[in-house]
Amino acid sequence: MESIRIGLIGWGTVGCGMLRTLNDNAREIHARLGVRLDVVRVADLDLETPRPVAVDPKILTRSAQDILDDPSIHIVVELIGGIEPARSFILKALERGKHVVTANKALLAHHGNEIFDFASRCGRSVGFEASVAGGIPLLKALREGLSANRLDTLFGILNGTANYILTRMTENGLPFPEALAEAQRQGYAEADPTLDVDGIDTAHKLAIAGAMGFGTPIRFDQVYVEGIRDIDPLDVQFASEFGYRLKLLAIARRTDGQLELRVHPTLIPEQHVLASVRGAYNAVHIHGNAVGNIMLYGLGAGMMPTGSAVVADLVDLARDMTLGIVNRVPPLGFLPEHTADIPVKPMDDVVTRYYFRFSAVDRPGVLSKISGILGTNHISIAAVIQKGREVEGAVPIVMLTHEAVEKDVRRSLEAIDLLDIVRGTTRLIRIEDRAENTAPRA
Ligand code: HSE
Repeated sequence: MESIRIGLIGWGTVGCGMLRTLNDNAREIHARLGVRLDVVRVADLDLETPRPVAVDPKILTRSAQDILDDPSIHIVVELIGGIEPARSFILKALERGKHVVTANKALLAHHGNEIFDFASRCGRSVGFEASVAGGIPLLKALREGLSANRLDTLFGILNGTANYILTRMTENGLPFPEALAEAQRQGYAEADPTLDVDGIDTAHKLAIAGAMGFGTPIRFDQVYVEGIRDIDPLDVQFASEFGYRLKLLAIARRTDGQLELRVHPTLIPEQHVLASVRGAYNAVHIHGNAVGNIMLYGLGAGMMPTGSAVVADLVDLARDMTLGIVNRVPPLGFLPEHTADIPVKPMDDVVTRYYFRFSAVDRPGVLSKISGILGTNHISIAAVIQKGREVEGAVPIVMLTHEAVEKDVRRSLEAIDLLDIVRGTTRLIRIEDRAENTAPRA
């Protein structure tokens, strides 16, 4: 086999990154592989808009079917995103005996189990490194580099747009709408930023990486998700006074025979390695029982980083094809018959530390009423500050708790928010500062 023939569906940003990488790094890739990776057909509905990477007009088509119907194509790369028609294209490609590479995290979060099962029945492989954390080889690390480990925790920053917004709010005191508008102007956030700022994109990625890290099926519908729309710069400032940074974290943790899968704004100690991840960068912190703490860091989006991940999948597939092997490594790293349905811990049962900001009238006895309710619900206070700054006729009282159970916290805040001395809804932010996961900075 001298060349592997590739059909690309989706001539967008990531498609251009893939084409440029294949072109610019052709020598390196060939030196690693010994065969050529030839893109022989490119399909997109829009062939008019100028792209940063040109394609020979002879191989362009508006119809993905031209690629699916071409028996000479070995690998189909799906880079159109969304659920349909991407799902149908992938299933059709597998059925026709083609391997598939995709960057489509939403599709895999919802239908990954079905797609991997179908691929296995077709004797074909699906590569999806680019679906999580862009250019960071996270999935390869989970599947292969960390295969000797039992993971305890995997948590990280998996959305560059949200991290950019939170960085601007932290470092420049911008309110959320201004930071979002700036992210849109800079091209980080979409016109409709829902997937990024409401945590959904992060949850898609956590569902995939969590399944791979812990040997379970993908269970997107069981991921708890909160986004960053309601973050107030005041909370970012107070958190900083306590020595914390605010990040949108994806957290997967094994506790009590269950798996926590949650995405929410989180306070992490300023000295934690993840606290220094600024702007549009992603990073993932993993604790394995053999390797200890590790962190992977890099760009989670963009033409070239994501294109690099797509090409890495092509190289892996091509290596297996030249050796006549299929699915040398199972898609999620664990043999499908040995994946475990570890129950997902209900959010109510999660135990963590909390930051609360109450807005209360400034008069004697207020703190004792609030702390009385917390005490009755088994919540122990670790620190408290009250600042004389008035916000809508009330003063902010900020508390940090010791570890508490989420349902006790919810019950307490419901009662506290009904007190006549409390104004508005209390802000809650969860804290991650377990010593075993707080590797000091190098
Ligand atoms: N929109 C994502 C981000 C990149 O901002 O990280 C693609 O997953």
